[in-house]
Amino acid sequence: MNMYDIGMVGLAVMGRSLALNLADHGFRVAGYNRSRAVTDEMTAHWPHENFAPFYQLEELIDALQKPRRILLMVKAGEAVDAVLRQLVPLLEPGDIVMDGGNSFFEDTRRREAALREKGLLYFGVGVSGGEAGARRGPSLMPGGDRAAYEAYVRPLLEAIAAKAADGSPCCAYMGPDGAGHYVKMVHNGIEYADMQLISEAYLLLKHVGGLDNQEMARYFAEWNRGELKSYLMEITADILREPDDLTPGELLDRIEDSAAQKGTGRWTSIEALRQGADVSLITAAGAARVMSNRLEQRAHAATLFPAPPMKQAQDTAAFAETVHRGLYAAKLTAYAQGFALLRTASEAYGWGLDLGAIAAIFRAGCIIQAVFLDDITAAFRRNPDLESLVLDPHFLSEVTARIPDLRAAAGAGLQSGVPVPALSAATVWLDQFRGAPMGANLIQAQRDCFGAHTYHRTDRDGVFHHEWGAQQ
Ligand code: 6PG
Repeated sequence: MNMYDIGMVGLAVMGRSLALNLADHGFRVAGYNRSRAVTDEMTAHWPHENFAPFYQLEELIDALQKPRRILLMVKAGEAVDAVLRQLVPLLEPGDIVMDGGNSFFEDTRRREAALREKGLLYFGVGVSGGEAGARRGPSLMPGGDRAAYEAYVRPLLEAIAAKAADGSPCCAYMGPDGAGHYVKMVHNGIEYADMQLISEAYLLLKHVGGLDNQEMARYFAEWNRGELKSYLMEITADILREPDDLTPGELLDRIEDSAAQKGTGRWTSIEALRQGADVSLITAAGAARVMSNRLEQRAHAATLFPAPPMKQAQDTAAFAETVHRGLYAAKLTAYAQGFALLRTASEAYGWGLDLGAIAAIFRAGCIIQAVFLDDITAAFRRNPDLESLVLDPHFLSEVTARIPDLRAAAGAGLQSGVPVPALSAATVWLDQFRGAPMGANLIQAQRDCFGAHTYHRTDRDGVFHHEWGAQQ
């Protein structure tokens, strides 16, 4: 009876899509869902010769080849612990449990340690690409025991992963315990920043550029043929053109100006603060979503605060090109911040993350896939210890050439009252990064003045304290 290669627990959209992807690749998949109706829906609408439904977890476990491999695709959080409480007593040492949800990496570390105590192997697997990616080829970020990965996990995951243009699978071993989910968390943080930057470019083109949706769609489609080619740019061009199904015009204009989130971007910001890393674009993007949710307050305040006059662009094509070039510099800054956080975390947790390998698996399948990930991969291959992406010779010249455009695009938003928090954050970060004076001397003086916190001097070594005001 031990005939199935893998057990899939959770058959909602993502679980079902991954199960069918595995089945397409010749793996025999045993599926289980807590609610029977979901399993029945799957077998009724998506039957597959390599997929068999199970209605009791015990029966599914009995039907798996040993060591057993089980992929959990359940809602991140308490649901994962609830499944593990049921599952773990049914397993034997050497069995492998993979969590493919967007679990918080600290939860994954805790679960990995608890299962290791029982001789079980636990993997946190970042899965990106949404439903279509899961079905046809996601980007996969597995973390857990290396030897078990090579022997039992790699063949499964590499088979179903997206393939980059050079044919290599978008799946690589990330590191032990929570490393895979950590990388997925940062992927999502970059995703938040990238989406926010694109939406700021849209706002600028619309309000300062005075363009309509069709005209903006043409720009985004054109940009998507060049250096900014990416999945998010592609869907943006399509979204701008999408007609409304209920009223005349485009659907985009009928969607409420309030963005939801499940919180993975917020985790990235919190974690970056803990690590002393600056992910200001990701934080700006998360905060922008939060501000957008205050619909009533915004509507009320709009009656109280006058908007500045809109300074419309005189030359629309030139302005669009400024936004285009500024967007490149800002996007690169967001990726640089995300990868810098990965670098810091790798040291803090002792994971030995391979940033080049991570860039390589982001090249296809995932939400942030973009052509410039080829350049990012090349940058880390040239120098695995690269401190910041913007210091790579290629990006240094590409970004510095576009900083004036970024400054102009962010400036246009600030002048006309078009909120551009992520473009502004990118401009500020690049100024700080390039060594502009930051006023920290005054902060140190204040700290020493009110709390004798001491300071360093520029002209001599040592730690100093000053009796402020004593000489007056
Ligand atoms: C992915 C996405 C996916 C999900 C996000 C959405 O990589 O496939 O990141 O995991 O769409 O979690 O996140 P929010 O609901 O927080 O925007």
